[in-house]
Amino acid sequence: MAKKSTNPLSPLLESDAIREAARALVNAVQEEAAGRSLSHKYYEKAIRDVERLRGRELFYPMLSAGAGTGARLQLADGTTKLDFIGAIGVYAFGHGDRDLLENAVVAAASDVLFQGHLMPGPEYLRISKALLRHAGPRLKHVWLSLSGAMANENALKMIHHKKPSADRMIVFDGAFHGRTLAMAELTDRPAFREGLPLRGNVLQVPFFDAEDEHSSERSLAALETHLRRYPGQIAAMGFELVQGEGGFNTAPREFFVALMERCRTAGLAVWVDEVQTFARTGELFAFHTLQLDEYVDIATVGKTLQGSATLFSKEYNPKPGLVSGTFAGNTVGMAVGARIIERLEEDGYLGPEGRTAVLGGRIERRFQSLAKRMPKAIGPRSGLGAMQAFVPWHGSRDIVNDVLRACFEEGLILLSAGDNPSKLRMLPPVNTTDEELEAAFGILEKALCRVAEERDLPC
Ligand SMILES: Cc1ncc(COP(=O)(O)O)c(C=O)c1O
Repeated sequence: MAKKSTNPLSPLLESDAIREAARALVNAVQEEAAGRSLSHKYYEKAIRDVERLRGRELFYPMLSAGAGTGARLQLADGTTKLDFIGAIGVYAFGHGDRDLLENAVVAAASDVLFQGHLMPGPEYLRISKALLRHAGPRLKHVWLSLSGAMANENALKMIHHKKPSADRMIVFDGAFHGRTLAMAELTDRPAFREGLPLRGNVLQVPFFDAEDEHSSERSLAALETHLRRYPGQIAAMGFELVQGEGGFNTAPREFFVALMERCRTAGLAVWVDEVQTFARTGELFAFHTLQLDEYVDIATVGKTLQGSATLFSKEYNPKPGLVSGTFAGNTVGMAVGARIIERLEEDGYLGPEGRTAVLGGRIERRFQSLAKRMPKAIGPRSGLGAMQAFVPWHGSRDIVNDVLRACFEEGLILLSAGDNPSKLRMLPPVNTTDEELEAAFGILEKALCRVAEERDLPC
């Protein structure tokens, strides 16, 4: 059980008696939820209903029972899966975490379920403070929002607001920044913006390529070309320090330093999109893991935060009116997001020797041992801490999809990332146990063997 929070706002948030009552409720619900299930017929029908109502097939034909423990998710047919993707990076401590659920219950029972920017409550302050504790000396402010894309929209608005004459943005090849109109244009996936009206103001720079010894020079040269071609017209450069949807690619610190320094001298804002990296690379922010704090003007977070936020320096604080909106977040999400940060701090997850970094090492060793048994099936690995990926065989999209489906059928949920090559990625809970890791890698091995046999691939 995690240590109790020493948050000075605690008197506003809960008392021991309330915590006790929350514990009793969580215990009762968990006990009942563990026995919940639908018959095969109704389970299949529920899945078909979900698909019909949303007008599209589910990637995995599944319905959660709303129950689970740690990395194990219980489905509504009574079976369990090892969840190593956590709704694409949302569940820091996996399923059914008692401490987080108790926090959620207290927050849910206190007053209102959603908070607006007009009437902030204690959870608003608690999560804002928790974020800024880790944001380094430059980022002084935080604006809360609901989704990663919205946090990015707010970042973009702050950037253009400060430099209205510059309407262009630079991003990396392979970037993913969300699915609003503006973010779909920054995102390097033509299919994700098919038919959308585009502004045509996005420029690309190649991401780091470990195979190319001149990778850094190539990216810097591309940046220089853009600066020369569009003098005074580029507002910012966006950085994903570990590219999420792009394939969990990362780069050495020096690669980012060179580009960020050039952005600085050219007057471009340095915006770091940490929506997927947040709390996964060993620190709350990957820019802190990579010691880039001094360069960052704006950072955006989401997913594991249970909401989203834009953090910004004093210089980027916009005039009132530019950034607002009804919702700041839901009270439960804010309370749980803040508690996740507190748990990461209190229970030793942060820092180069912290439990998140150690988890990264444990996963790496599992891959090494799997690669010894299946050298042809386990291609290059990438990622940091609790975000890891590898290329199966030569990384064709079809093979990746086959392995994903085989894993799912055998009891493990993973997802793909990137193209050419496609990878299998995992975003496991930061508190994944050895037993869960062993079980997950056992299933992965079985699934790879199955696909090898079906497709007649060498192992
Ligand atoms: C790096 C990055 N930015 C932005 C987003 C968009 O976040 P959301 O889906 O919450 O809008 C994502 C989502 O995957 C992401 O990985």
